[in-house]
Amino acid sequence: MKLLGIESSCDETAASVVEDGRRVLSSVIASQVLEHRKFGGVVPEIASRRHAEAIVGVVQQALDDAKVTLKDLDAIAVTAAPGLIGALLVGVNYAKGLSYASGVPLVPVHHLRSHVAANYLTNTELKPPFLCLVVSGGHTHIVHVADYTQFHVLGCTRDDAAGEAFDKAARAMGLPYPGGVFLDKEAELGDPNAFSLPHPTVDGSPFDFSFSGLKTAVINLIHKSTQKGEELPRADLAASFRRAVVDCLVRNVMAAMRETGEKKLVIAGGVSANALLRRELEVICRENGWEFYRPELALCGDNAAMVASQGFYEYQAGKRAGLDLNAVASMDIQADFVNKSVR
Ligand code: KG4
Ligand code: ZN
Repeated sequence: MKLLGIESSCDETAASVVEDGRRVLSSVIASQVLEHRKFGGVVPEIASRRHAEAIVGVVQQALDDAKVTLKDLDAIAVTAAPGLIGALLVGVNYAKGLSYASGVPLVPVHHLRSHVAANYLTNTELKPPFLCLVVSGGHTHIVHVADYTQFHVLGCTRDDAAGEAFDKAARAMGLPYPGGVFLDKEAELGDPNAFSLPHPTVDGSPFDFSFSGLKTAVINLIHKSTQKGEELPRADLAASFRRAVVDCLVRNVMAAMRETGEKKLVIAGGVSANALLRRELEVICRENGWEFYRPELALCGDNAAMVASQGFYEYQAGKRAGLDLNAVASMDIQADFVNKSVR
């Protein structure tokens, strides 16, 4: 089965054709990152406009690269939630138009579920059940993936997402957007023990996270030194901050692995590209006899191959959308899209 995936939830317009949920035939990504960098973060209004300009060409390129036409497709999978609403609407409406014109069924996909599915493309032998740490710009979840379309959230952040904390701390350090990427690189050059930073816990909820105190601690350190006219060693600060975030992520994930007795650990989302997180979990999983899976770097960030992969499993589970499909800005990973008018 061949599926076209379409992704426009944030600042990447992407389309991809994937066979049987596992084999990438094409993957095209038009990134807006350089445009948003001028503003230090994503400007939603600009994102929507750029998606509207790019989407026709990106989808056509994905079909051409895969050497298929709309007639060869079994389904069109589109990210319908969660994300920036104006950005999501561009992809959803374009997918609806394609589905209407071609008669190819439409499958709505949850963005975080698709990040998990990026692992099926890199690790073709991986099958649920497993435990997954989903770490993106807007979300930090520990999820039990019971089956391809069955998710149970064990813990999540009570305030900032890990990616958001990385981005805000990086911005305070004067690093460009997207901060997490640059902070990770800077941290490779520094001493992780140079600064002692808090490792917040959530009372009574060992699988939940809190990153806002840690983020504020590092921002306060920077402000105080600026007031005194001093400059802190940026690489050491980045390394200490990255160490603290990764310590919190690893601490809770290990607790969840022990509690559930799962033997497979998977990471997903933009922050799964983090070099220290990947190294740490690799070692810990080896020591504990757990299997460890992570997406290849090119599939950690937003892309449409992961949408087509998850779309395949949603399709197999009978999920479809009608032409009244709407985009939703926030939606639980456990929830299903409401099927109103399926053609
Ligand atoms: O999953 P993603 O591409 O978009 C969302 O769905 O949010 O995640 C983007 C987030 C940003 O916060 C970005 O700074 C962060 O992932 N990120 C990283 C790294 N690469 C991307 N954070 C830490 N280390 C990285 N290497
Ligand atoms: Zn994402």
